[in-house]
Parts: sequence; structure tokens; C-alpha cells
Amino acid sequence: MGIETSCDETAASVVDDLNILSNVVSSQTIHKKYGGIVPEFASREQIRALIPIVESALAEADSSLENIDGIAVTCGPGLAGSLLMGLNFAKGISLASNKSYIAVNHLEGHLFANRLSDPDLNPPFVFLLVSGGHTQLIHVKDWGDYAILGATLDDAVGEAFDKVAKMLGLGYPGGPEIDRLAQRGDSSFQYFPRALDGKGYDFSFSGIKTSVLYYLKKQKDGFIEKHIEDISASFQKAVVEILTKKTIHAVKFLNLDQIVVGGGVSANSGLREELTSKSEADSIKTIFPPISLTTDNGAMIAAVGAYYLEKGLSSSLTMNVYPNLGIQDATD
Ligand code: KG4
Ligand code: ZN
Repeated sequence: MGIETSCDETAASVVDDLNILSNVVSSQTIHKKYGGIVPEFASREQIRALIPIVESALAEADSSLENIDGIAVTCGPGLAGSLLMGLNFAKGISLASNKSYIAVNHLEGHLFANRLSDPDLNPPFVFLLVSGGHTQLIHVKDWGDYAILGATLDDAVGEAFDKVAKMLGLGYPGGPEIDRLAQRGDSSFQYFPRALDGKGYDFSFSGIKTSVLYYLKKQKDGFIEKHIEDISASFQKAVVEILTKKTIHAVKFLNLDQIVVGGGVSANSGLREELTSKSEADSIKTIFPPISLTTDNGAMIAAVGAYYLEKGLSSSLTMNVYPNLGIQDATD
């Protein structure tokens, strides 16, 4: 079983090796009226949702605590309060049911989402991690052996989507909204600058965010509403171009032929289209998780847990949460 409570989703899933038997996700709606996540509300909502979500995941899988092999739970990165809810809950049921529990790195979860949909996937490859909190290019030498090639110097790409969506008056999270509008817009409507030079594999999204802000500020009343699809498409195109160019550059530099993508922004239709077509032109294979496994879910956490449990690893009950955990950091 996998339990995920790193942010504003409460999720639980039962997997049998790489088969998903159930995958239940509850997204908190309380934050919508604040335009972003309020950490204290997030942890309180986790407490409310945990038991019913775990019970539904077990019921949907036609399973019970007695017949699962282990409990995997996210220990970081994420919001400390939210992480603590899931971790302590998992420790509790592990003690009560006498099952092993294993603390899982959330970022490794986004990577393993791809193993669930493509069991034949094998390293080495370049992993583009694009979520609400992270934007990283990672050299996956083997499962569990990661080297960071580059990361964002400021905003994560999902954060940039959410902030631009807010400027456009859209709800939170804004990424899916921008994606939906962009599909009906003209991406050459307005050129926004791409931060592409001089920084190797690092990314920067604060410049483009600011340029959208100034662009919107100088427009007359009604302009944004009239052109919201074109502005969304133009912004999305700029972001997608940055991600695509840097990723293809990295995979070529390492002489590899596979790209794997994960995290909430891997649901983005523009990124899927552009990265797939540009990499195909260079005989590079690009793998995206199915949309249902792009955003936070328990199945990806269970997949990581199952992998390490099979190697005989489990975690100690003194394990703490790690809000700033990196993908390359071991959690003992
Ligand atoms: O991976 P995730 O569920 O949570 C974190 O670990 O951060 O990612 C959430 C992020 C949000 O910023 C959301 O706006 C973005 O993923 N997102 C998208 C799309 N779907 C989710 N961004 C762009 N296009 C999408 N279709
Ligand atoms: Zn995530």
C-alpha cells in the first residue's frame, strides 16, 4: 500500500508488483479561495481525509491490512505538517498490523509513476521532473542512483503556471486551466522571452513570469478576457520550448536515447506534443506517465516502496519527515 500526503492531496493505493489494484486521490478544495496552499489547513484536512481514503483504497482493491505486504509512505519533500500526518499514520498502522513500513522520497515516486505504466522501462535515461515544487533534470543511472544535472534557480515550472494563471484571473491550480485555454489559442500571439542561454541545465522561470505581468499591466480593460486563450498559448509555448531544448540537450550530451518525464506538469499537452516530436526527430524515445499518474497519487509511492521492500529494506520508527529532501538524498 502507498500513502501520499506531502501537500494538498490525500492519496492511497494498493499495488501488486506493478499492477495498480486501487488508486484513490482526494484533493483539498479549501485552498481555492486563497489562490494558493495554506499549510496549516492542508495538514488539518489530511487528518480528516486519511482514514476514509485508506479504507477506500483497501476496499477498492478487495484487500485488507492483513493481506498487504508493506506500507509505503511519503517522508519528503513537501509541507512538514502534511508529511507528518501521513508518516505518523503509516507508522501507527504498521505497528498495529505488524507490517513493514517504508518511507519514500516523493520525487522518486514521480519517477516510478513511469514504471507502473511501462514495466519494461530501464535506466539509464534523463528524467525531467516538472511539478509544483520542482523543476529538475536528473541523470537516472539506475533505479536509486541519481545525479542532478540542473534545477530551477527560482520558480518551479508548475509554480510559474499557477502564478501566471492567477494574473489571468484563473483558479488554483492554474496549470490545467492554462493548458486547456492554450489548446484553443494562437501561440505566436505574443513572444515572451525564453531564459535559455548561459546557465547549462539550470532553469529560470521568474523572468518570463515578470514579463507576462508587465505585458498584462499595460493592456486596456477587456483585453485579457478577449485574448486569454492566445496569451495562455503564448506563455505555454515559451515554457515548453525552454523545457524541451534543455532536456534534449542533456540527453544528447550524455549520449543517451531515452527521456522520462514526471510530476504534475507532465500532464501538459503542449509539453507532451513538443518534447515527443522534437525527441523523435533525433531518434530519442520520450516516455510520459498516463495523465492519472502525473499529479500526486499513492500508486507511485507504493511502486517505490514495493521496489525497496523487495530488496529487503524498510524504515525505522524513529524516521522523521524531510521537507527539503532531494531525489539523490538517501533516507536511511
Ligand atoms: O506533482 P504535483 O501534483 O505536485 C507537486 O509535487 O508539486 O504538481 C502540481 C503542479 C501544479 O503547479 C499544477 O498547476 C501543475 O502541476 N499542473 C499542470 C498541468 N496539470 C497540473 N501544469 C501545466 N499543465 C497541466 N496540464
Ligand atoms: Zn508531486
